[in-house]
Amino acid sequence: MTPSASLKSTEPRLKVEGLKTYFFLDHGILKAVDGVDFHVGEAESVGIIGESGCGKSITAQSMLQLVRGRGQIVAGHAVLRRKQGEMVDILSLDPDSAEMRSVRGDDASIIFQEPMTSFSPVHTIGFQIGEMLRLHTKLSEAQIRERVIAMLGRVGISNPEVRIDEYPHQLSGGMRQRAMIAMALICHPQIVIADEPTTALDVTIQAQILDLMRDLQDELGMSIVYITHNMAVVAENVSRVYVMYLGRVVETTTTERLFKDPKHPYTQKLLRSIPHPGRPVERLEVIEGSVPSAVDPPRRCGFFTRCPSAMAGVCDAAIPALTKVDDEHWARCFLLSDEKEAEDEWSSL
Ligand SMILES: Nc1ncnc2c1ncn2[C@@H]1O[C@H](COP(=O)(O)OP(=O)(O)O)[C@@H](O)[C@H]1O
Ligand code: SF4
Ligand SMILES: [Mg+2]
Repeated sequence: MTPSASLKSTEPRLKVEGLKTYFFLDHGILKAVDGVDFHVGEAESVGIIGESGCGKSITAQSMLQLVRGRGQIVAGHAVLRRKQGEMVDILSLDPDSAEMRSVRGDDASIIFQEPMTSFSPVHTIGFQIGEMLRLHTKLSEAQIRERVIAMLGRVGISNPEVRIDEYPHQLSGGMRQRAMIAMALICHPQIVIADEPTTALDVTIQAQILDLMRDLQDELGMSIVYITHNMAVVAENVSRVYVMYLGRVVETTTTERLFKDPKHPYTQKLLRSIPHPGRPVERLEVIEGSVPSAVDPPRRCGFFTRCPSAMAGVCDAAIPALTKVDDEHWARCFLLSDEKEAEDEWSSL
């Protein structure tokens, strides 16, 4: 039994508080993630949903300190329980430190939308996937090869004994995506953040990858954060959902409650705009307008410009706080409470 399987804890596997990731651009500060809290339990799957540009991917990248360029994590904590049980605030680590490298891949990994950027063109995929095991385990070269071949087979790559020695350009896009998923899972991480992992794959392979992730979850107690537009993936795989809008969580509840009784006007509109078990394609509605710019956003409800229930003088005068509906349900809307979000040191930026 691995240490992870024997360690049971009531503490979340990962607890994120007050995450803010801003891009310091020439024309202003783009607040991609502006005060996000979420947690994931051991062997739990949670979902993050929301339209494009709402900060889902930057939230994911922040978790492993992979935000580059002009992006900077300006506030927040992300406390992870590592394989041996010790707690570490990932965001307090130097992004280039040995400890951060050891967290990445071994304890936590991300499956990206863009497989091309994950592989170097100059090494075989087998070498690159094996590198994770060379870094994080003491396995022999023969054992590494055996494990890589087995994992390539599990993600649906046929002839893995041959494919292991191929270079990324020799694989089709779908194959590369699967090889990247193999790389993310090879060290059996405690937590996987899957950022639209199967969007580019055909339906059969999608189902196979989701099955594999569920199997690893059962075997190893792996926790999974699914970032997805696919409501079937949400309905079938996650126990709780976080809805993001303009860099903030605007609603969070159990999957069942989300579909049955969404409270936030944005969630209500979002669920009417994407197919899911309760909303067939022919009944879909478009959400009017678009997500406003996240560059120096005014201090008002982010949904104010698109909300059918917006109250002038209230919703455009402050940012609503995340308000408790009950123990399992929270939403950020002045219809639920007149509580405003507390000001903090970054709010004046
Ligand atoms: N490298 C970058 N430089 C500047 N802005 C970025 C960069 N990456 C993302 N953004 C901006 O951050 C915001 C959130 O993006 P993202 O997290 O990718 O959204 P989502 O994954 O929800 O579609 C968007 O406004 C996007 O334009
Ligand atoms: S706070 Fe006001 S504008 Fe925002 S979602 Fe609620 S009702 Fe709509
Ligand atoms: Mg994204």
